[in-house]
Amino acid sequence: MSERGYYGRFGGMYIPEILVATFEELIEAFADARRDPAFWQEYVELMSTYSCRPTPLTFAENLTRHFGGARIYIKREDLNHTGAHKANNVMGQGLLVRRMGKRRVIAETGAGQHGVATATMAARFGLECTIYMGEIDVERQRPNVFWMERLGATVVPVRTGTRILKDAINEAFRDWVANMDTTHYVLGTACGPHPFPEMVAYFQSIIGIEARDQILEREKKLPARVYACVGGGSNAMGIFQGFMDDPVELVGVEAGGEGIATGRHAARLASGDARIGVAQGYKTFFLQDDDGQMRETHSVAAGLDYVGVSPILASLAEQGRVRFEAADDAEVVEALSLTVRKEGVIPALESAHAFAGAFREVGALSPDDVVIINQSGRGDKDIFTVADAFGDPRWKDFIRQKAAEYDA
Ligand SMILES: Cc1ncc(COP(=O)(O)O)c(C=O)c1O
Repeated sequence: MSERGYYGRFGGMYIPEILVATFEELIEAFADARRDPAFWQEYVELMSTYSCRPTPLTFAENLTRHFGGARIYIKREDLNHTGAHKANNVMGQGLLVRRMGKRRVIAETGAGQHGVATATMAARFGLECTIYMGEIDVERQRPNVFWMERLGATVVPVRTGTRILKDAINEAFRDWVANMDTTHYVLGTACGPHPFPEMVAYFQSIIGIEARDQILEREKKLPARVYACVGGGSNAMGIFQGFMDDPVELVGVEAGGEGIATGRHAARLASGDARIGVAQGYKTFFLQDDDGQMRETHSVAAGLDYVGVSPILASLAEQGRVRFEAADDAEVVEALSLTVRKEGVIPALESAHAFAGAFREVGALSPDDVVIINQSGRGDKDIFTVADAFGDPRWKDFIRQKAAEYDA
């Protein structure tokens, strides 16, 4: 990385003049914290007492037998407090906010996971909290909105643009410009202007550090491949960093939506449909139309339907260090179903993309090989979407009955 946050030709810091001082303050505070060994110690201690770190590495014995190829391990980020890897990033940024002496945090959220994690962190650290969320996401993720509000956060539905994640990010930046003296913007993924990609990747690196130690202890060797789903790119960067200098193939799996050929997907690096652009403060591959306007994205997993992608991953793709694949909605629901039945773990729909990517390939590997799949989050939040995908009639009856109770 260059000094101003470039990774090859991606990244950078394209921000309004008015935010420059705030970014300089953040860059300095992060650099200072990073130099201080006590800071990482404090972070690890917090995550081991408040979340569930180190998260286990589970041997998926039944899936391994089912596919008959490589031995499959699952890194269990779903066991974090609030149910996903998002906790790693928000608790780390919370410690940084405390160092900077700010008293309010804001965040954007798509699926709602990052919003719940940020509201949780704010409650724990006694900070004021506002969450920006596209109106469409507010509608489809009501349970997460419910919990954010119970945790004391103000949830602002964003009615501009296409009313999803990218619009929520724009709104959060607007708030930050108006309140930068008191407020920190807890960006939820390894995107955005410098230093966010680097900072989020730094906190998430705990996944890869643990996974490397755990697999060496269990198997006495490195995995042949590591699979992670890619929305903005934070869980993928988290686990990949543990194996970056090793002879390990790193595979990022994006949202293939209804199929690449339909155009209704969110595969920026695997599809060849995205072009380089500058938006939301950084340069990367964005899905855009001929006029350079952001295209609508689609995925069964709300947390993967983002138009941009981490500039660090864009650069690693260009260097050939990370291979990108796309898994479509139907394949993902099938992978989810198989994993639940065979192993009794419930991956989030986002994470199920990593499983789908691995399932295509593990049978062709040798039984002496080992692979790791990063289970970024747990799937209970997806009950409405998954029940729809399976067309479960008893679930529909239950919802109708509940609605009738409210109408009565
Ligand atoms: C469980 C889960 N996994 C993955 C993601 C995608 O984000 P990222 O690519 O930053 O890990 C999300 C985003 O909301 C998520 O909730």
